[in-house]
Amino acid sequence: MEGVFVTGTGTEVGKTVVAAAIARTLAARGREVAVFKPAVTGLDDPGEPDHALLRRAARSAQSDEQIVPYRYGPPASPHLAAALAGEEIDPDRLRAAAAAAGRGADALVCEGVGGLLVPLSSDYLVRDLAADLALPLAIAASPGLGTINHTLLTIEAARSAGLEVAMVVLTPWPRGPTEVERSNLETIASLGGIRPVTLPRLDLRDPSSWPALPRSPAD
Ligand SMILES: Nc1ncnc2c1ncn2[C@@H]1O[C@H](COP(=O)(O)OP(=O)(O)OP(=O)(O)O)[C@@H](O)[C@H]1O
Ligand SMILES: [Mg+2]
Repeated sequence: MEGVFVTGTGTEVGKTVVAAAIARTLAARGREVAVFKPAVTGLDDPGEPDHALLRRAARSAQSDEQIVPYRYGPPASPHLAAALAGEEIDPDRLRAAAAAAGRGADALVCEGVGGLLVPLSSDYLVRDLAADLALPLAIAASPGLGTINHTLLTIEAARSAGLEVAMVVLTPWPRGPTEVERSNLETIASLGGIRPVTLPRLDLRDPSSWPALPRSPAD
């Protein structure tokens, strides 16, 4: 399956925005893009859920169920949210749902949950799903203080499991980056062996206003 698996250095670091920007970049070039996320939690909280932004950015007609098979209200790790709902996330169902989502599309843009070592079930991590889907990774990371360690840890966790890190995206990259932010990019490039690309702050209401990402692993 052609596509990309977007992970991040943790939760709330910009995975959805990066996945949406990749989906938008591909869709704007006329590609049929499907989006996928194994599980979403926190649907009780206000705001646009991840799958809705992904669908808008990709110009996809997929249903909620087709994009994200497991959906939970409480803002908790997926394995816990599933347990609270009296069930367990089934890796076979995730693999089948991702394959079904990608069928007929030119590319599949998949967003993980939290970071690579977040459990989906008691013995199946987000990293295991990325490996099973055999998609290259894009890693969303913050530009600011703390990002060197978080990003290098994520790169190492990916490579130690044989995953290809195709892209690191620093987001949102400020208009006037500070010395620290510029230095973080260079340090990740030299110690991580991959040069991060940057994503400016986007108007999330209007994907047509977004710049194309310079390189997309799903190209
Ligand atoms: N380039 C950007 N433009 C606009 N907003 C951004 C950008 N990058 C990050 N953000 C903001 O940072 C916050 C976190 O982004 P996002 O929801 O993409 O994170 P996430 O890693 O997907 O979170 P979760 O773990 O909940 O899935 C959001 O409020 C988002 O709007
Ligand atoms: Mg998200």
